[in-house]
Amino acid sequence: MTVPAEHPHDEWWRRAVIYQVYPRSFADSTGDGVGDLRGIRARLPQLAELGIDAVWLSPIFLSPQKDAGYDVADYRAIDPLFGTLDDADALVAEAHRLGLRVIFDLVPNHTSDQHEWFRAALAAGHGSPERERYIFRDGRGERGELPPNNWQSIFGGAAWSEVPGEPGRWYLHLFDSSQPDLNWHDPGVRSDFLDVLRFWLDRGVDGFRVDVAHGMIKADGLPDYTPREGTGSMGGTDGTGEIERPPYWGQDGVHEIYREWRAMLDAEYSGRVLCGEAWVEPISRLADWVRPDEMHQTFNFAYLETAWDAAAVRRVIDESIAAFSAVGAPSTWVLSNHDVVRHATRLSLTGDNPQGDGIARSTPGLPDEDQGIARARAATALMLALPGSAYIYQGEELGLPEALDLPDDSRADPTWFRTKGEKFGRDGCRVPIPWEADAPSFGFGPTDASWLPQPESWRRFARDAQAGDPASTLEMYRAALRIRRERRLHDGDIEWIDAPSGCLAFRSAGTTVVTNFGDAAVPVPAGDVLLASGSIDGGLAPDTTVWLG
Ligand code: NOJ
Repeated sequence: MTVPAEHPHDEWWRRAVIYQVYPRSFADSTGDGVGDLRGIRARLPQLAELGIDAVWLSPIFLSPQKDAGYDVADYRAIDPLFGTLDDADALVAEAHRLGLRVIFDLVPNHTSDQHEWFRAALAAGHGSPERERYIFRDGRGERGELPPNNWQSIFGGAAWSEVPGEPGRWYLHLFDSSQPDLNWHDPGVRSDFLDVLRFWLDRGVDGFRVDVAHGMIKADGLPDYTPREGTGSMGGTDGTGEIERPPYWGQDGVHEIYREWRAMLDAEYSGRVLCGEAWVEPISRLADWVRPDEMHQTFNFAYLETAWDAAAVRRVIDESIAAFSAVGAPSTWVLSNHDVVRHATRLSLTGDNPQGDGIARSTPGLPDEDQGIARARAATALMLALPGSAYIYQGEELGLPEALDLPDDSRADPTWFRTKGEKFGRDGCRVPIPWEADAPSFGFGPTDASWLPQPESWRRFARDAQAGDPASTLEMYRAALRIRRERRLHDGDIEWIDAPSGCLAFRSAGTTVVTNFGDAAVPVPAGDVLLASGSIDGGLAPDTTVWLG
């Protein structure tokens, strides 16, 4: 397998723009309405052309798909829904041929209840070594009829389910009941995962995004815990600035696991990377996940969760750069992914929207669609000027807003079911993306089929309707990625400069970047305009970013 880039083992991840492909919604080669590996492979040239460095694929492994593949039944097999192992190999080879790296999504906190380990654990019974691989406990109450503690599932309801046919015995699942949590104190779990890493690394995969990288170790004794009002289920602050410390998130023991993985990568797979999905605050603590002997990168969710406010954005940028550089890691930046409301909608919402809750047409405080897109473009132009590495989520380069009109009977997110429809969940950001304005399923696949219905209004966002139009969001992304690379903005050093009220302005790598967060246009500073996310004719319009040379 060829390795892309001139310097095969340089630290490419320090500057990379990594594009998240959500396989079921990217491109469908068969017409069954679900995206697949051949569909992705056929579209890879268009990603290479966009100017990204790597793709991260959400899970493609064998799975009953109760949580869209984050419920893995076999870490070494491809789900037939997406294709075969040969298709995966061909995809990686084609990506490398195009100079793109490929990151797979590893889900080590839990398996599917269909994984052979969980089946074996159920079959082997109480007290067996097989049950040691998961977190089984006796219930509370006289007959064990109450769950072992009060933990709640991230998707709603109790985090414990009774073992079928064994009243009084329970297993832990921080997510859906079909996703039992693994016991990472078990040596068999640890060694099997090392083998899983090797399995994919040996096939040429360039690294892993590590799911729930803050959750694999639980506090001793599994103590009761009640989150404070106002904190999102993935942790965070309670609105007063107090940091939540649940006994299932961010326990010290997780670091030992990543050190072991990193040592293996450094010794045998140089140039491959680990990127942690760790919802941990504050950023100075999150930086522990990317100490020199741990992961290479971690998602900066504090940045993603920052409101559209000049002072708040400046603060989170400063904190991020300080915290990550203190451990020698690159800052990363992200605005959207498959778990959050798309930023073309989210940044303009007026109400609170904790991560994962989702929104729909009935949600109060929905923005005007065009204003939302203008703000998203400004936010992206600001993000892509920052030093370090950035993540973009499929469809944001088209300016896609959240899908707000999904029929209830099309919804698939476990959050919707476990909260009995009280929370919409994440389906609104997972709708198959539009490629061609005048094709069936907007070119997602060869037929009209689409596992979540595409809004009719998405015709205007189709990739082919935007290509070549310099005013389009697609061309703005393309230009931003090209200029970022040419001017080496990824290597820049931010120096804040005076800005009109309501604006942020900085210099980095010889480039001036100004974002107007305010309500009125402001004068555009002197310089050659390299990129503008919106109108600069009558001054720098509200919700607009400009790059000047
Ligand atoms: C985080 C993933 O991004 C999300 O989609 C999934 O539901 C949970 N982890 C559980 O694996």
